[in-house]
Amino acid sequence: MKYRSLCGMCPGYASNIGRTACIDDYRRHFGNRMTLAIIAPGGAFVIIFRTRGGAYPMFYDAIKNEHGMKHDPFKAMIVPRPIGWISSLAPDGIVNLAPYSFFNAVSDKPHILVFSSTGYKDNIRNIDQTGEFVFNLATFDLKDQMNTTSAMVAPDVDEFQLSGLTPAPSRMVAPPRVAESPVAMECKHLQTIELMDIDGKPSGSWAVFGQVVGIHIDDSLIAGGRVHIEKAKPIARLGYMDYAVVEDVFALPRPAVNADGSVAAE
Ligand SMILES: Cc1cc2nc3c(=O)[nH]c(=O)nc-3n(C[C@H](O)[C@H](O)[C@H](O)COP(=O)(O)O)c2cc1C
Repeated sequence: MKYRSLCGMCPGYASNIGRTACIDDYRRHFGNRMTLAIIAPGGAFVIIFRTRGGAYPMFYDAIKNEHGMKHDPFKAMIVPRPIGWISSLAPDGIVNLAPYSFFNAVSDKPHILVFSSTGYKDNIRNIDQTGEFVFNLATFDLKDQMNTTSAMVAPDVDEFQLSGLTPAPSRMVAPPRVAESPVAMECKHLQTIELMDIDGKPSGSWAVFGQVVGIHIDDSLIAGGRVHIEKAKPIARLGYMDYAVVEDVFALPRPAVNADGSVAAE
């Protein structure tokens, strides 16, 4: 018989005894608690000590990725992630369209977007070769078409045709935009960077940066001198197969700060 941690937070874990089994047992049976037990050779155990739930927040080594759950929870906690629905053109004129949730705006002077591809996919190759792409807004009404365009199809398949979407001409770049999408941003390629890990090892993921050179906005979204994006019902990625839809918006003006750093009274 020996002592073993079942929770992954106590000295048993630190000394590396039964680590993986501990996390599994702990998650399955006890929730977020520190639990010490006596383990019999056959695996049966008797609990000798348990903290109250939540006393020790879960922590795990993110490089070893020992979260002990069925699915990696990382993306479920970086939420909601906007979806870059990216159209591009191959040098031979074949159109490509696919969604990327590793996507965001990273600068507003100038307007710069980035998306990242796990693997050197068709859009990355097209953009590296032709230097242009379009970001289309994915909305709740277009969720099924957006999902269809994520199918891993051969480079000569036009995802507009595949999903029944209409290519509309762009104004300043060659790739078409999605006519049904209420917002589109025409972009010129800036940089493609292969991401490296902390050991300098190439990850096989590629980040593409583009500067926005033209923006289309459906008139129905504009009122009172501003864009009411909730009217478009944009969708965003959560973890697993889950999505969120943007329908409720609240405003939070920033606090005014005095010269001495104190927050000014309203
Ligand atoms: C909502 C959603 C988000 C996605 N995000 C990404 C992503 O961030 N990076 C990635 O490499 N693939 C992502 N995918 C998968 C790509 O869309 C898929 O691999 C697609 O076939 C790539 O197309 P391409 O090879 O024509 O460029 C996502 C799929 C969906 C449905």
